[in-house]
Amino acid sequence: MDALGILHLSPVMPVIVVHDAGLAADLAAALVAGGIRSLEVTLRTPAALAVIRRMRDAVPDAWVGAGTVLDRTQWEQARDAGAQFGVSPGLTQDLATAVRAASVPFLPGVATVSEAMRAREAGFSTLKFFPAEAAGGRALLKSLHGPLPELRFCPTGGIHAGNAPDYLALPNVVCVGGSWLVPEEALAARDWARITAMARAASVLGGKHAAA
Ligand code: 3PG
Repeated sequence: MDALGILHLSPVMPVIVVHDAGLAADLAAALVAGGIRSLEVTLRTPAALAVIRRMRDAVPDAWVGAGTVLDRTQWEQARDAGAQFGVSPGLTQDLATAVRAASVPFLPGVATVSEAMRAREAGFSTLKFFPAEAAGGRALLKSLHGPLPELRFCPTGGIHAGNAPDYLALPNVVCVGGSWLVPEEALAARDWARITAMARAASVLGGKHAAA
C-alpha cells in the first residue's frame, strides 16, 4: 500500500498520544471496532514505540503508523518497532532520503505552497497539511488545488467532528487527522465504549470511504 492508500482507509486518522503502553491493545481494538483502519501513534511519549508494537499485535488488520517523526533516527526506531507508515509535521532533506530508502508509506507535513512544491520535488504527492487551522485551513487547501492539482492532503491540527466534513468535501483532501477521537479523559477512564462510538461516527464522515 502507498501513502494515498493509507489515507483512503478511513476518513479520520486518529492522532494517538499514549503514555501507558498497557492501554495500547484495548485502545486500538476500540478504534478498529468503530471502523477506523489507520492509527497514527505519535512519538511524543516514551511509551510510543511499545504502543506501536502492542497495537500491531492487537489489530493485525489495521495499519499502525508512527507520527511526529522528526528525523532519521526516529524513523528507524519506529520501523524497528513495526510502524507500517510514518507521518511528520514537516520534511527535511535527510528525513526524505531515509524514508525513500525504506520504501514504506510516508506523509511529510507541509504548511505553505513552497513546502508543498519542495515535497513534490522530493517525490511525495500525498502530504499532511499541518497545522491545518493555523496555517490557513480550507481556504489554503482550496488555493493549493489550482497550481498543484495532483497533490493529496491529510489536514491535521485543529480539526474536530464539527469542521471535518468541510475539509473532506475538498477534492484534494482524502482524510483528516485529529486527536479528538482519543480524548485524554476517556483514555484515563478506559472508556472504550465511548471511543468506539466516536470512531464509528468518524468512520462515516465525508462519504468518500468504503465504511461510509
Ligand atoms: C498532530 O500531531 O498531528 C497534531 O498535534 C494533532 O492536532 P490536533 O490535536 O489539533 O488534532
